[in-house]
Amino acid sequence: MIERKRIEVMHGVNLDQLGRRDHAHYGALTLGQLEGEISAGAAELGLETRFFQTNHEGDFAEHLHRLEGLADGLVLNPGAWTHYSYAIRDAVELAGLPAVEVHLSDVEHREAWRRESVIAELCITRVAGKGATGYREALRRLRTELSQ
Ligand code: DQA
Repeated sequence: MIERKRIEVMHGVNLDQLGRRDHAHYGALTLGQLEGEISAGAAELGLETRFFQTNHEGDFAEHLHRLEGLADGLVLNPGAWTHYSYAIRDAVELAGLPAVEVHLSDVEHREAWRRESVIAELCITRVAGKGATGYREALRRLRTELSQ
């Protein structure tokens, strides 16, 4: 049994539009379906998930501010904010929780600007280009971290 098991899964801007976005990059799952997959993966690992999505940068930051005592780890896909939002970066730092950065698409092999991540240095690792499976990988990595 793992004691620290509460994982906050946070999706940023435009991720509520999954299912309508380019399937070649993001797959065909809606956000609800993706979250169902993530929950199932978490349950197999003995982890609990809560989900949050917003298209508003300040709401994303404020959600991070409010996590103290409510979460043990973070799975973060801030969408395009990943590449330039120092406000999100500072809020992730303030949350002070073990975090894994996840992208559905292969950000390393798309436009050059998608290679930049302002949160990478605060995260244990980054998983990209593996679709829903990438979230399971992120949960496994967090589980290892939280078991130590
Ligand atoms: C994304 C990649 C980002 O570059 C993009 O802006 C997104 C989604 C991904 O999951 O692949 O909105 O974070």
